[in-house]
Formats: sequence, C-alpha cells, structure tokens
Amino acid sequence: MAAVMLRCLQPDIDEERYSDKGIPTVTSDEQIKVEKNIAAIFSYFRNTIEVDSKEPVLHRERHIAYLKKGLKTLPEGFQCLDASRPWLVYWAVHALELLEVKLNEQEAGNIIDFLKRCQNPAGGFGGGPGQFSHLAPTYAAVNALAIVGTKEAYDVINREKLQEFLWQMRTDEGAFRMHEGGEVDIRGVYCAVSVARLANIATEQLFNRTPHWIMRCQTYEGGFSGTPGMEAHGGYTFCGLAALTLLHAHHLCDTPALLRWATNRQMRFEGGFQGRTNKLVDGCYSFWQGGLFPILHTLLAQEDAVNMSAERWMFNQEALQEYLLICCQHPRGGLIDKPGKASDFYHTCYTLSGMSVAQHFSTAAIHKKCVVGHSSNELSMVHPLYNIGVESALAATQYFNNLPVPETRENNQTNTNTSSHDDRAQT
Ligand code: FPP
Ligand code: ZN
Repeated sequence: MAAVMLRCLQPDIDEERYSDKGIPTVTSDEQIKVEKNIAAIFSYFRNTIEVDSKEPVLHRERHIAYLKKGLKTLPEGFQCLDASRPWLVYWAVHALELLEVKLNEQEAGNIIDFLKRCQNPAGGFGGGPGQFSHLAPTYAAVNALAIVGTKEAYDVINREKLQEFLWQMRTDEGAFRMHEGGEVDIRGVYCAVSVARLANIATEQLFNRTPHWIMRCQTYEGGFSGTPGMEAHGGYTFCGLAALTLLHAHHLCDTPALLRWATNRQMRFEGGFQGRTNKLVDGCYSFWQGGLFPILHTLLAQEDAVNMSAERWMFNQEALQEYLLICCQHPRGGLIDKPGKASDFYHTCYTLSGMSVAQHFSTAAIHKKCVVGHSSNELSMVHPLYNIGVESALAATQYFNNLPVPETRENNQTNTNTSSHDDRAQT
C-alpha cells in the first residue's frame, strides 16, 4: 500500500530531474551527478519495498546506539571538534530526545558535570573546559542543559554572568560578536537571543536595535545572509527569522519574499532542501530550511495570510521524509548530508529535527501528523525556535520564567549604546 503513495516511486518522478539545457557548468554537472546517485537509490528502494511493505523504516535502534556510543567516546578524527564539545553533547542529546530516549541518571550527571566545567566564571560557555567563552557553545550548552531538564541541570547556568557575557558581546548596533575580538554575524545574534529567551535573561535594552540589524541581512532573494550585503543561506535565514520572532519583531520581515525563497529551496527531484540557490541538497537543511515553515506559518496566520483550516506546512512534507529515510540513513547508524557521505552528529541532529517538523503540522488549533513509512518512524515534536523538544522548551521556560530577570548593567549600557550609530545613520 505504502508503495503507491510514495512520491519517489511515481512513474513521472523523472520529470522533476534537472536539465542543463545543453549548457553544462561545474554547478550543473554536480547537480546531475547527485540526482543520478539518488535515482539509483530510489530505484533500488523500489525493489526493497516490493519485498518489505513496511519500508521506509527509520533505523531507530541503530541511530540510538550510534549516538549513545558517541556520548561516551569519540574516535580520534573528532579532535578537530575539540573547541565544539558542548555542540557534540547538544547534537547527541537533542537527536536522542527526538528518538524518544530518556537519558539515565549517570548520563545526565556526566553531561551536567562536563558542561559545568565548560562554563567560565565571567559568564558563558567555552568549547571545552578552560576555553574562552563563545556564543556558539554557549547556545549548545544552554540547549543541552534544557534537554537534560532537571533542576540541577538548569541551575548550572549562571544567569547573571550569562547576561553580563551577552552585554560584552553586544555591539553598538545591537548585533553580537561570537567571542571577544571575534566575528559579528547573525549566528551570534540568534545564539544570544535564544539563550536569553530560554533562560529568561532578556531585557529590552540588551536587544534594542537588534531587530533592525537583523533586517539589514534580508537580501533581495528573500532569505537572510550572515552579515549585511552577503548571500542568503538557510542556516543564516533560520537564525534571522527565529531571532526576529523571539524578539517579537517579525513584523519587520518581508514574509512573502522569505516564503518564496524558502519554498524554492526544496529540491524537485531529491525532496530534501538546498542551503542556497544553485547548490546541492543536504540533509542538514531539512531543519535550517524546513524549520522556517512552522515559524512562517504562525507569522502569516497572525497576518490572516494563511488558510486557517490548513493542515500542512507550505513545503512537501512527504518528499522531505522520503529523502531522509531512503537516502540519508547510514547503514552503521547516524544520518548524513547526502548519499556517499559519512554520518556525524551534526547531520544526525538536524536531519531528525527536520524530519520531526515534516511529521507534525501543529498550530494552537490543529495538530495533524504526516508520518511517511512505518508508524514507528514517528519522532517527538521539535520547538522550531530553539531546536529542542517542545516539552523541554516548555519545561525550561516555565522554570526560568519564575526567576527574576537579572539587571546587570542595564542603565549604564542603555545610555552609552542607544544614542550612537543608528541614530546618526538615520539622519
Ligand atoms: C555554507 O557551507 C554554510 C554557511 C554559509 C553557514 C551555514 C550556517 C549555519 C548552518 C547556521 C549556524 C547556526 C548556528 C546557530 C551556529 P557550504 O558552502 O559548505 O554549503 P552549501 O554548498 O550547502 O551552501
Ligand atoms: Zn549539511
């Protein structure tokens, strides 16, 4: 039965394949090569499903074993991620929560102890114990602690000092640098806004001017770039839209242009998303691009610009799941960018996050599941603004919202920051 429904098995699927119209370029040759690989996998899958109608199956146990093993020890090749250790923890625990695995007490305890050692006395988390604070591992650590979800985990976060660290990273324009002396980009803004909202340390002054800085990154294509004037990309677009929404400043965004850009990033033949125009499909964009749709849907609903009885996001939810289930599961566990690539925690995390978005259409009024393949493929629901489980996000915000917002350097900072660059730019 399932075989009839799957899009990749429809006889006319080849009509969706790319044509270089007789003018080959390096880019078009790469696209044709990827599609050829994927066509072979779809065709192999056609035979598989004839003998096993439960396919496509999410190899849950394999992925769990892969993630649990990685939480304990990692092979030598991971040395290059020594400055991203809270990320490795976050990617693994988030993927596990989507797979509905509860951490045992010892695993939770080890994560808490480790992240405690990554936190600096002056605020924020470094990429490992003894490393300087950086906004990216800070975001990863705060998310991981929220997923662990115990009072002990929440209380690791030194909220006063974290707010102080955010103030130090803030620029006069309301953007955020990744670390002291480091680059200023939209990732920094999103990481700062996300941890501030989750841990309830956001103040108006800390983020004044931030929405306007973010809006300088929305490009003529409709997506967002890393810094003003650069190329729109899914990773940066997610950061921009999620940060604007968390700051309740989404009305500034050109949502029709963004929707047009985002919908056009889903690949016609492969079913997965590309990160930017004329580039290749990659499993991780299932979330960076796919995660835009629940946010956009909510924003457009507020503007009365969606059909209120809609039960689907504005992308092909089935096609994305087919790409992930059929092309992106590594036989030894973990998920991947595209066929031929090795699995890693980053791709396992973001492919599963995207799959979760594709499986659950959920608004305040309607919840409609769309699970491709076996019913055991269903994942738990993701919170699209933080990219942690919905339940983890609700529990964490409930806990932190009962604590007072620290006021570390509000008044002084407001006076020095608010009168400068942007006002001059407007005159
Ligand atoms: C392009 O890589 C990648 C980027 C330009 C940056 C992507 C940004 C993110 C994934 C967001 C990070 C977010 C946080 C919160 C830290 P590429 O040229 O190898 O890939 P492509 O060909 O698919 O564009
Ligand atoms: Zn990727």
